[in-house]
Amino acid sequence: MEPYEETAAHVTRGQGRRPWVVGVSGASGTPYAAAVVRGLLAAGEAVDLVVSRASRLTLLDETGIKFRDAHWREDLRDWLELGADGKPHTFEVDLADVRYWPAGDLAAGPSSGSYPVKGMLIVPASTACVAGVALGLSKDLLQRAASVMLKERRRLVVAVRETPLSGQTLKQLVALDEAGAVVLPASPAFYAGATHIQDLVDFVAGRVLDAAGVPHQLYRRWKGELGEARSRSGG
Ligand SMILES: Cc1cc2nc3c(=O)[nH]c(=O)nc-3n(C[C@H](O)[C@H](O)[C@H](O)COP(=O)(O)O)c2cc1C
Repeated sequence: MEPYEETAAHVTRGQGRRPWVVGVSGASGTPYAAAVVRGLLAAGEAVDLVVSRASRLTLLDETGIKFRDAHWREDLRDWLELGADGKPHTFEVDLADVRYWPAGDLAAGPSSGSYPVKGMLIVPASTACVAGVALGLSKDLLQRAASVMLKERRRLVVAVRETPLSGQTLKQLVALDEAGAVVLPASPAFYAGATHIQDLVDFVAGRVLDAAGVPHQLYRRWKGELGEARSRSGG
């Protein structure tokens, strides 16, 4: 009796927390990932973070931050506080609702469909990641978690970043779309009155959160009036 009760309580506790998995793969665009994680936390959402091995190189290149599994909390704080213009301590973050899983940990929670999550946002998604998820390779936790989203029919948003795109990648993106994923190119728009690099980053991050149904105020929405955003930003 006792072990069963313990298990039931454990399951109930587990279901209480339903995070978004955020997978960061090795495409350019680590500021997009930071903006999405900040946006989720600001909306009161919990985050399970997976950072691919290759994305440590893009993070180092784009921010100077060396992301270490053993010091993920400090390194993530530095990353999330950084402005897209490279200015440190631009944002304040509370990491209490973040759980970090090393990319090599294939026994981690998000590798199973029975682990409760709302869905997964891959931001940015490399073409290697697109290929891996389209083929179901599960070469690391990020790709395995994405395959789990597809098999469980949960929300999967793939913010692919590459240009130009090969025919192979285009076919793999169609395969992901047909499997139920939202394919969301990391392609900033200029109708929302951007005046700084952070505005362009936040536009893409905001569209990712839109696809997830998470409320935010990261960009100014189109109101049906040409030039409205430009006049409001003083342009
Ligand atoms: C500085 C840097 C920038 C890169 N930018 C991109 C990119 O924008 N898009 C892409 O598909 N791959 C890019 N790559 C290549 C990927 O990192 C590489 O394909 C890697 O295998 C992806 O692995 P992952 O999907 O497991 O993270 C970049 C690599 C480096 C080092």
